[in-house]
Amino acid sequence: MTDKLIIFDTTLRDGEQSPGASMTKEEKVRIAKALERMRVDVIEAGFPIASIGDFEAVQAVAAAVKDSRICGLARALDADIDRAGEALKPANASRIHTFIATSPIHMKMKLRMEPEQVIENAVKAVKRARQYTDDVEFSPEDAGRSDPQFLCRVLEAVIDAGASTLNIPDTVGYNLPHQFGDLIKMLRNTIPNADKAIFSVHCHNDLGLAVANSLSAVINGARQVECTINGLGERAGNAALEEVVMAVRTRQDVFPCDTNIDTTQIVTASRLVSGITGFAVQPNKAIVGVNAFAHESGIHQDGVLKSRETYEIMRAEDVGWHTNRMVLGKHSGRNAFRTRLQELGIELESEAELNAAFTRFKELADKKHEVFDEDLQALISDTIDVE
Ligand code: KIV
Ligand code: ZN
Repeated sequence: MTDKLIIFDTTLRDGEQSPGASMTKEEKVRIAKALERMRVDVIEAGFPIASIGDFEAVQAVAAAVKDSRICGLARALDADIDRAGEALKPANASRIHTFIATSPIHMKMKLRMEPEQVIENAVKAVKRARQYTDDVEFSPEDAGRSDPQFLCRVLEAVIDAGASTLNIPDTVGYNLPHQFGDLIKMLRNTIPNADKAIFSVHCHNDLGLAVANSLSAVINGARQVECTINGLGERAGNAALEEVVMAVRTRQDVFPCDTNIDTTQIVTASRLVSGITGFAVQPNKAIVGVNAFAHESGIHQDGVLKSRETYEIMRAEDVGWHTNRMVLGKHSGRNAFRTRLQELGIELESEAELNAAFTRFKELADKKHEVFDEDLQALISDTIDVE
């Protein structure tokens, strides 16, 4: 049987940390409802200690969403954990996600703590969080640059303290896919009580590798991926939910697991997040960019018109697009041109008329990025008038 891959969406927490992407309480609730419709398993709604507004937003999301688990972030500090516990009270199912840095540079320069103190604080934080919920996630921040043996010690201790999810963040997006996959495998094989917890990953995109690193981790045993809609997040962002989900769904020949995501909701969620944050989606963005299922070249259009699988590895409809799209431009061929005319109900009487119209179309296409339906209508009436 295929394992379940848990999708933990952090658009409302790490996504909101993108400079300029902060959201109101009402906006967070709208996005959370869209994530719930998509059947996201866990929604990280915010960082309740960060502000009164964020506390209230987590509370509102916890009250509004019933089918997804709602999570609040907390540093390994009593005040943070108590605040998260309080904000999550209205939730049907809650999780506290507590974290402390474990890399040498973070422990020395940021926390100014000895490694033993870090372990002590991590254990204390998990135990305190367990007083509010039996679902506690622990993250060793900057795990991607931490000493692997030290990571093993911290993680073994927090499992004993009651953490049921161990999230391994590549906080600064430093890892390469093979390396990150090996790290997950080593942790699972070395930590004596590893089978008592689910391994999760949280990858940043500083080198453009967040999705690749997440997928490598899944192949090596991670069963939760933390991600955001459109890859929003601190600096260059997080792993994009739509890319992780569709890679796993499309390549079931490789992955031993699958998500429960209703993929037909992806485009709607992407547009909602883009509209609310004002962060435009680049046209060539995988899955959700307007060109993700568009074909312009004549060779591709001809292939797709004969059989969509020639140039499409997924169906546009499966991720929520109405259909795939033939873009008429200077690279387009006669087959796509003729098909579009037929779709517009334009009947040309002879092959000679079609040839004349196609020549005029190519002349126009050389002057424009895209030839739209209105251009075609005008072009055809001109062609018929000329003859
Ligand atoms: O990137 C990171 O390390 C985080 C943690 C809080 C999980 O966002
Ligand atoms: Zn992060």
